[in-house]
Amino acid sequence: MSVTILAIESSCDETAAAVCKDGMILSNIIASQSVHEKYGGVVPELASRAHMQNIVPVVDQAIKNAGITLTDLNAIAFTQAPGLIGSLLVGTQFAKSLSLSLGVPLIGVHHMQAHVLANLIPDEKPSFPFLCLTVSGGHTQIVLAKSALELEVIGETIDDAAGEAFDKTAKLLGLPYPGGPLIDQYAQLGDPLKFKFAEPQIPELNFSFSGLKTSVLYFLQKQTPEFILENRNDLCASIQYTIVQILLKKLVKAVNQTNVKQVCIAGGVSANSGLRTGLISLGQKKGWQVFIPDFSFCTDNAAMIAITGYHKYLSNQFVPLSVNPSARAEW
Ligand code: KG4
Ligand code: ZN
Repeated sequence: MSVTILAIESSCDETAAAVCKDGMILSNIIASQSVHEKYGGVVPELASRAHMQNIVPVVDQAIKNAGITLTDLNAIAFTQAPGLIGSLLVGTQFAKSLSLSLGVPLIGVHHMQAHVLANLIPDEKPSFPFLCLTVSGGHTQIVLAKSALELEVIGETIDDAAGEAFDKTAKLLGLPYPGGPLIDQYAQLGDPLKFKFAEPQIPELNFSFSGLKTSVLYFLQKQTPEFILENRNDLCASIQYTIVQILLKKLVKAVNQTNVKQVCIAGGVSANSGLRTGLISLGQKKGWQVFIPDFSFCTDNAAMIAITGYHKYLSNQFVPLSVNPSARAEW
């Protein structure tokens, strides 16, 4: 029997819906919320309200683009945790209502598990076990994926996430939020070795980025605004280089420790050109197989919730209608 799943993602500031049939993505719709730009970060209350406005048209479009009707659905998957609680509640309540009205089961998905399993969407995908570096605005983790539903976090940040490191240092340089893509853009014109910023010495496979932010702050405090503007490309290139080095060095350690040589990447920061080229050339040098999904599956999206929902469906992992979302990341 074939399995068709509608998935809903509303953990932060993207309202997204996708349909997958037997593990193949049929549609993937995202409504991004521009309302937060002028505040320099996501405003939770505004995010919830925007989800309320977006969720019906986004789900309608996902169903339409997939060429199906609601009665074709076998299950509804939704992001259950972690995220902004008000945002998660919108997706959860919507998923519950659909599940109840259509009489199909409900599947709760962990957002971070879904980021890892986004690597199973493309035709060219890793086999198990593989390692995944998940780098976003809220998380930085190295995950050992033993099977679709057996994921072990073997390293994570003890303070800021890699995306926060990009966004916070960008803010120090006077760049608007989210600064990560802008650092990337300027970095391509600059010298990555011009300025040296501290790399933290953190044990095991864990990360820390708060020291880098302080190091950049102290350096910039000693400079004039003219100097910062004139050296913007080199500053961006040097900051990006430091962040990428921190990430890649831990990845080398993780491969050595696990002897798993299939390496994937996920999360919004995987769009970073320095990280992509750095990982590809490191993989060639070390003999790893590197997988980088299409950018639309790296940032927050519902296709990754759908593929995770599909694997949970196959192993009968459903949740009751009384389920509640959780802001917390424990899994
Ligand atoms: O996964 P994501 O879309 O949302 C969550 O945080 O869950 O990641 C967003 C993060 C932001 O911090 C943004 O600055 C960063 O990804 N980002 C980048 C780039 N594109 C997005 N950071 C560096 N270089 C980029 N090209
Ligand atoms: Zn995410």
